[in-house]
Amino acid sequence: MKTEDGELVIGVDVGTSGVKVLLARADGSVLRTADASHGFATPRPLWAESDPGDWWDGVVAALSQLLEGIDRDRLRAIGLTGQMHGLVALDRHGRVVCPCIMWNDQRTGEECREIEEEVGVERLIERSGNRMLAGFTAPKVRWLRKHRPDVHKDMARVLLPKDYIRYRLSGVFATDVADASGTGMLDVGRRTWCGELVAAAGAEMEWLPEVVESAAVAGRVSAAGAAATGLPEGLPIVAGAGDQAAGAVGCGIVREGRISVTLGTSGVVFAHSETFQSDPGGRLHAFCHAVPGRWHLMGVMLSAAGSYQWLADKVFPGLSFRELDALAAKAPAGCEGLSFMPYLAGERCPHADPLARGGLVGLTLRHGREHIARAVLEGVAFGLRDSLELMRPLGIRASEVVATGGGVASPLWRSILADTLGCELTVPLTNQGGAHGAALLAAVGAGLQPNVEAACAGVLDGASRVVPDAAGSQTMERHYRKFRMLYPACREFFHEPD
Ligand code: XUL
Repeated sequence: MKTEDGELVIGVDVGTSGVKVLLARADGSVLRTADASHGFATPRPLWAESDPGDWWDGVVAALSQLLEGIDRDRLRAIGLTGQMHGLVALDRHGRVVCPCIMWNDQRTGEECREIEEEVGVERLIERSGNRMLAGFTAPKVRWLRKHRPDVHKDMARVLLPKDYIRYRLSGVFATDVADASGTGMLDVGRRTWCGELVAAAGAEMEWLPEVVESAAVAGRVSAAGAAATGLPEGLPIVAGAGDQAAGAVGCGIVREGRISVTLGTSGVVFAHSETFQSDPGGRLHAFCHAVPGRWHLMGVMLSAAGSYQWLADKVFPGLSFRELDALAAKAPAGCEGLSFMPYLAGERCPHADPLARGGLVGLTLRHGREHIARAVLEGVAFGLRDSLELMRPLGIRASEVVATGGGVASPLWRSILADTLGCELTVPLTNQGGAHGAALLAAVGAGLQPNVEAACAGVLDGASRVVPDAAGSQTMERHYRKFRMLYPACREFFHEPD
């Protein structure tokens, strides 16, 4: 599509440990990025909290860096993305009433059980596409009702993290269907809030923001937002999406047959779906996609590159990732029967179990440091394969697998992943994650691109390929069969108190 020279869009990603902002041209190419870091607190075991005010400060700081020397008249829209599932609770004056309870907070096991019992698991999956998981927003509201009635009684608004930024920019309460899918309160098939699930969460319908499609304009920068950020007053704010759906747009996962596999701190398998369908056991997420009228299936493992980071920090301190890779490369595929269970932070898919734990199983006197290093890389690849296997009976074809995330920087891990999945991998030249997807959605919302598919048509230009090795695939297939036996065998052990 011919676009006017010089028009620009911004993507904002409110992440777990920092804000990233990105400036893109109307054709989606990236001009520059900036970031600001923020922390989160773990005041008790299983808890994870963050101060929404810190995110806002980070957005203001990062935008001022991003826009230095840029003619602001060239800006056409800003799109938002961020960590999903977090509960930002506001009172009727729009003030934050408690720290955000984040996506990785696991305190609500009891509330999930209560909601599932009240609604019924089958009905819950039929409506929300998912089981009720500890990280989701709904059980957090219910937790506040039970444990912090003083906070719950003041609640008048429930927002997701990126939508808090929209509120600060514009005064508007709105969200998008993709991010709203992760609350556990959306009727995912109908793409609208579900009264029954809202009630089960202990929330009120009027607390919830308006929910729109991801590429729709949802708010404009207010005079106060402009004064704080330097953005032009009236700049359209495009709804955007949760970080996973936005990240998928950023690497072109907007049609059937193309899936992405992400080796980030968490590991994600993401597939586009033309229709709403869910895994009958609710082991996969079924969410609305950022492509209007489309859905996606997603498997999330909680410790992917996070497992490798743990290995580097705690087991092999002093070794760089490159050195760790070189060590792992000395062990043969299959690690002579040593397997790693990557559930260091509990697990979500395919085992929705906050109490699941990591493990190295199959050690013998022969095994050494190199086997342990390689077993971690293989165990994570097996965990991702688990999610892909759950998608197959739903008709998901993996004709093209796009591999992203920090872990794909490792050539060894890339080839282990290709062998384990038994597919060729496409590795994008660069990947700017959700911020890029949010900017592409902004380009659509601003009318610079006709639709989401067109907006991300060029994102895989220059990508490289990783071809699986036939013998390696056979070995990994055999070891994957063994890996699948591990969690069921250990489940009871994980659930015993320490
Ligand atoms: C997705 C998920 C994470 C968080 C944090 O379901 O939990 O991607 O959004 O990045």
